[in-house]
Amino acid sequence: MGKQSHELQTAIKAAHAAGAITLEKFGELTLSEIQPKDFKDFVTDVDKACEAAISSIITENFPEDSMLCEEGTVINGSSGRSWIVDPLDGTLNFIHSFPVFCISIALKGPKNNLLTGVIYQPILKELFYAECGQGAFLNGKQITISSRTQKETFLMGTGLPFKEYHYLESSIEMLKEVIHDSAGIRRAGSAALDLAYTACGRFDGFWEYKLFPWDFAAGVLLVREAGGTVTDFTGDPDVFQRQSIIAGNNITHPLLLEKALKHFTTEIP
Ligand code: IPD
Ligand code: CA
Ligand code: CA
Repeated sequence: MGKQSHELQTAIKAAHAAGAITLEKFGELTLSEIQPKDFKDFVTDVDKACEAAISSIITENFPEDSMLCEEGTVINGSSGRSWIVDPLDGTLNFIHSFPVFCISIALKGPKNNLLTGVIYQPILKELFYAECGQGAFLNGKQITISSRTQKETFLMGTGLPFKEYHYLESSIEMLKEVIHDSAGIRRAGSAALDLAYTACGRFDGFWEYKLFPWDFAAGVLLVREAGGTVTDFTGDPDVFQRQSIIAGNNITHPLLLEKALKHFTTEIP
């Protein structure tokens, strides 16, 4: 990759700042630092501190851009561009001292076109990043999507419903089929990291039904820049229209899409 843009440098600086905050508290979180947000949904002081650090670094550098962060920071800028931030993806893992979580930062242009994506896993110090048209990288080394083609060798990532039970049945039916068509499945609890792992070929494919832009924006760019395909469960590549994601290579993406179309007959609008 050539010279990194100011946008990418800023996103990396923000991700590192948030990563340092997570490491200070990982394994040390007390109950008073965890608050319920919704049914089976929690936020911690660490999520909030990460969001404050990221948003201040980004606004300082790009005061005209908009911003949408999971924990409530919303800025309406004039540039037509928007930063989409998950300050801590994998909060439940973090609360339970399960070392699978990351920081996800993306920049989107006016037509939902992804420009920059950064995903940082602080425990392993793995920095995934991509810029539109420049390829995808892990700690400075270019990454590519899996080249596996044999079903019995696939390792797939997914997310399963944990509170919205109305699509549990469809999810289980699809899961059963993917079990037959893979060597193994992981539900590690961080959708952004699942996508980063798909981008670098650790996972051969990934699917999850109900996600928000902050969960997938950076990861979608990583997978595409690594040579993969990403759509929603209807096959639409404009992933910001709905809330479902399928990512993979030219074998796993169609395989997962065919199952999604079969089992998820109604889409989240
Ligand atoms: C969650 C994780 C999880 C996915 C959930 C997300 P959070 O994000 O990405 O893997 O299954 O749908 O909400 O709440 O930890 O930022
Ligand atoms: Ca998330
Ligand atoms: Ca989060």
